Amino acid sequence: MKSEDTDKMEKIVALCKRRGFVFPGSEIYGGLSGFWDYGHYGALLKENIKQVWWGQFVDGREDMFRFDAAIVMNQKVWQASGHAKGFADPLVECEKCKKQFREDQIGNSRLNLKDSEKVQPLPARTTGIVQSGGCPDCGGKLGEARQFNMMFRTHVGAVEDDSALSYLRPETAQGMFANFKNTIDSLHPKLPFGLAQIGKAFRNEIAPRDFLFRAREFEQMEIEYFVRPSEWEKSFEEFREQTKRFFNSLGLSPKSVHELEVPDNERAHYSKRTIDFEFDYPFGRKELSGLAYRTDFDLSAHQKNSGVSLEYLDEESKTKFIPHVIEPSFGVGRLVLAVLSSAYTEDEMGGDKRTFLKLPPKIAPVKVAVFPLLKNKPKLVEKAREIYQMLQKEIGSVEFDDNGNIGKRYRRQDEIGSPFCVTVDFDSLEKNDVTVRDRDTGKQERVAIKELAAYLTERT
Ligand code: GAP
Repeated sequence: MKSEDTDKMEKIVALCKRRGFVFPGSEIYGGLSGFWDYGHYGALLKENIKQVWWGQFVDGREDMFRFDAAIVMNQKVWQASGHAKGFADPLVECEKCKKQFREDQIGNSRLNLKDSEKVQPLPARTTGIVQSGGCPDCGGKLGEARQFNMMFRTHVGAVEDDSALSYLRPETAQGMFANFKNTIDSLHPKLPFGLAQIGKAFRNEIAPRDFLFRAREFEQMEIEYFVRPSEWEKSFEEFREQTKRFFNSLGLSPKSVHELEVPDNERAHYSKRTIDFEFDYPFGRKELSGLAYRTDFDLSAHQKNSGVSLEYLDEESKTKFIPHVIEPSFGVGRLVLAVLSSAYTEDEMGGDKRTFLKLPPKIAPVKVAVFPLLKNKPKLVEKAREIYQMLQKEIGSVEFDDNGNIGKRYRRQDEIGSPFCVTVDFDSLEKNDVTVRDRDTGKQERVAIKELAAYLTERT
């Protein structure tokens, strides 16, 4: 029997496909595991989440600067950062069916590793162990665990030799570290300051799973916040609070977000302190985002490997030193999934079962949908179009919808998560007012057209 949570997850995936949020990548060719394509509403939802992030963490702050680094960098970046050697997960293969598994994710693992998506050199104890249990699929014998580097490899230029080797970045962070000197030289920022970036990251996950949760291509929103070594704790605490406010404004209940102080032996190699923010996904409590104190690990490593000084001259104390780094790191797909899971709601309305997304209006892909009651009555359509255009100008993210009967349109907008639907009926032509329907309560109110923009602006 299916559990309620599996059922919920399947319903979310189905809604995403049915309503044009997210599709399996390369679907018409049978798909490609770990890759997802965002349709119209998914792309809008994702963009709105990013805008909230920019707004709360970056824009309007004198100490924050935007960054947009290349995905492919000189392989020396990844040698210096430790990824070329250590960005690996333990892989085991079944000798019978040849299926591959991430050793720490199969039930019979004798290892007790935490979710090792981290940049983490494998502890020696994870290699060379022959599994005692069998293959979770066919019961066959599992072979020896080996380290599998999760970076996607590529070659730059026409010659595919080792000197042309590079990787698709597994984190956006390194692009900012590698440009620390450029930033200092061009912007002359004073400590503390941060570089902020949203961009794609790639990891050749052994076992992509749980929809957007563990993908092979995903987006990160990362800040590298450079501080005086003695001041790291203050910035760490500030980002910790800011992170909670951010989740709150995405509609994630504080009850479903949990902080996990990552113990010493489970932290990434660069981190002296990490808090994972975990979320109660339908498939269990899992990491949503991370906050790490990366010390001077990355800048020191790049200084050593490049031979370029990455010291900061502190004009106050006239001393030179390598700044330390606090890094709040968010996965956009994991946020989209957390937002969808907490917004997904089923109830009964007018005796019928319905499904709706209770999205905070700020991030809803459509804020208001405008309908003519009947699509074959030109006067209604004309009036509805006028209102649609007016609202588009005043509010934005407005949709005109005349597909099917009103009931169907409500159901569709509910599933998209549109907080308000405006219906233009025959009375509207006489009285210059419209019906506004609230997504969550289903309540309908008559609102004068001249007051409509103000009414909706206040509520979205
Ligand atoms: N720069 C630090 C860093 O990359 P991480 O904990 O490995 O740290 C940061 O990744 C965030 O990126 C995670 O908290 C998660 O939100 C997201 N993330 C990591 N791997 C992912 C994957 N395979 N699919 C989707 N999101 C992922």
